[in-house]
Amino acid sequence: MIRGLDHVGIAVRSIDDARGFWEALGLEITEIEEVPQEGVRVAMIPVGESRIELLEPTRDDSPIARFLESRGPGIHHLCVRSDDVESDDASLRDGGYRMLRPAPTVGAGGSRVQFVHPKSAGGVLLELSQPAAAHDHGGDGE
Ligand code: CO
Repeated sequence: MIRGLDHVGIAVRSIDDARGFWEALGLEITEIEEVPQEGVRVAMIPVGESRIELLEPTRDDSPIARFLESRGPGIHHLCVRSDDVESDDASLRDGGYRMLRPAPTVGAGGSRVQFVHPKSAGGVLLELSQPAAAHDHGGDGE
């Protein structure tokens, strides 16, 4: 089930160049993380209950690099927070909606993520993200 708007993902050529604008609003980057499997560096900026996610490519063949090449910097995706991404993935598939990946994968901060194809979401790339703390670590008593 979807529990809220987790973040808005914005493609930038450089986090260092882009951060000044957000800092001028009084906001702050609280963490920067590289996600090698996506070819991206991610900077998280809390905004109330939600966040802005700045996405900087680390490889020329990464999805963010290709997005910047064809569209330039700007809004790349919206992300809603799920409490069970496997279940949301399955029910969307059952409804005939197109997902980007065969199954949820590990994203920034150890979250589990899946993407709904823009063709199935009114032209919006929609990320479903289940925070690391909310999913089962295999019954190790956590
Ligand atoms: Co995201």
